[in-house]
Amino acid sequence: MLRFLQRVIRLGWPMRLLGFLFGRYNPWHPRHRQDPYPDYRRLREEAPIYRSPLLRIWIVSRYDDVVAVLRDRRFSADRRELPLAKLLERLFAPDPGLLGFVNTNLLNLDGPDHARLRGLVSKAFTPRRVQALRPRIEAVVADLLDAVEPAGEMDLVRDFAHPLPVIVIAELLGVPVKDRADFRRWSEALVQILDPLSGEGGMAPVVEAVNELAAYFRGMLAERRAEPREDLLSAMIAAEESGRSLDETELISLCGLILAAGHETTTNLIGNGVRALLANPGERKRLAEDPGLIDSAVEELLRFDSPVQFTERVVTEDLDFGGRRLRRNQLVWVLLGSANRDPAHFPEPDRLDLARGDRSHLAFGLGNHFCLGAGLARLEAQVALSALLRRFPDLRGDPDPPGWKPSAVLRGPTALPLELR
Ligand code: HEM
Repeated sequence: MLRFLQRVIRLGWPMRLLGFLFGRYNPWHPRHRQDPYPDYRRLREEAPIYRSPLLRIWIVSRYDDVVAVLRDRRFSADRRELPLAKLLERLFAPDPGLLGFVNTNLLNLDGPDHARLRGLVSKAFTPRRVQALRPRIEAVVADLLDAVEPAGEMDLVRDFAHPLPVIVIAELLGVPVKDRADFRRWSEALVQILDPLSGEGGMAPVVEAVNELAAYFRGMLAERRAEPREDLLSAMIAAEESGRSLDETELISLCGLILAAGHETTTNLIGNGVRALLANPGERKRLAEDPGLIDSAVEELLRFDSPVQFTERVVTEDLDFGGRRLRRNQLVWVLLGSANRDPAHFPEPDRLDLARGDRSHLAFGLGNHFCLGAGLARLEAQVALSALLRRFPDLRGDPDPPGWKPSAVLRGPTALPLELR
C-alpha cells in the first residue's frame, strides 16, 4: 500500500487529477512543491486552522498560532501512541534495536525523557565546540570551491551545498569523512521517517538504512570507549547527568538524528539561499557590497524559503484552539514556512530584504524542540555564502531549479547549475 501511494506521488499527474480530494492543502502536489507560498497565503487568509478532509490532520498556518502550538504543552511531539507509530512499530518489530532507535529519537519525545536526553547531548554540543569549527569550515569551503573553479561551472547542490554539511558533521561526530557516501544514503532514508509518502520502495530502505547505521555507529562507539578522542562521539559517551549517561540505543539514535537533521537541512538552506539571491539581483549586489550583512542575510534567507516547511504535534487533551475544537490524539501540522511569510508578523513578507534584521522567524522551530544545530547551520551558511559570492562575483544561474526534493517536509532544489565566470 505504502509503495503504491509513494508511486502515485512520484508520478505527479495523479496528484493533479485527484488534487480536489485534499481540499485546500496538498503538500505533494507538484505545483505546491514548486511554490507553496500562494497556498499558504490562502490558508492564512481563509482557513488558518484547517482540518484537512483526506489527511484528517489540522493545518495551522498563521505565525501567532504556530507559536502558540509550539509553546503549549498540550501539544506534544511524542507520537509513539498514534496509529502511524504503531504501524512503524509493527514494521520494525522484528528488530527491537530499530524500534528503540525510533522511540528514543529526540524529535519524537517529550517530558522528562526528552529533557534528560537533550540535556546530555547539548552538553556535548556547546557553542564553543561549534565556534571552534569555523576555521575548519572555512577550509572545507575553500577546498570545495577550488575543486570547481577550473571547470568554471558547478551544480551547487552536488558540488557544494551537499558535501559541505556532510563533511562538517562527520568531522564533528568524529567519523571518517571517507564514509560519506554511506552517510548520504542513510540520511536520505532517515528523512523518509518524517514523510514516508515521499519515499520509494516502501519502508524497506529505511529499515535497511537504520540497521546499517546502527551497526556502523556501534563499531565507532566501541572504538571511542576504548580510546576517547576530542570529538562529539566521545563527548556524548562521557556526558552524564544525575549519574546517568546515554545508553547504546540512545547514543545510536542521536548519531542518526544528528547525521540526518544536520545534513539535508543545511544543504537546502544553501540551495534555497542561492536561488533567492539569483532571483533578487539587487539584494545579492547589496550583500556583495556589504559583506558585514551576512548574519542578517542568512536569517532572512531562513525566513524567506525555509528548509523545514512544517513540523508535527499531537493534541494530548480535547481543547479549543482558535475557535475550533481539537480532540485528543489528533495530529497538527504547524506550517513554519507559512508562519515565516505571515504579513501580520513580517511586513511585506514576500520581499527578500537581507537587512530586515528580524530574527524571530521559526525556521528552527521554537520551544523545547528548538533546533539543536541552529548555531552550526548558521555558521556553515554564513561561511559558505560569503565565500561563494567573494570567489565568484559574476556567478550566474537560473533560479528555477530542474527539480525539487520529493519530501513534503524538507524544501530544497535537487540541483542548481551555475556558471561561475
Ligand atoms: C538550516 C538548517 C537546519 C534547519 C532549518 C533545522 C530545523 C529544525 C527544526 C525546525 C527543528 C524542530 C523540529 C520540531 O520542533 O519538531 C529542529 C530540531 C533539531 N535539529 Fe535542526 N535544523 C537545521 C540544522 C541542524 C543541524 C546542523 C543539526 C545538528 C548537527 C540539527 C539537529 C537538530 C536536532 C538534534 C533537533 C532535535 C531537537 C529536539 O527535538 O530537542 N539541525 N531542527
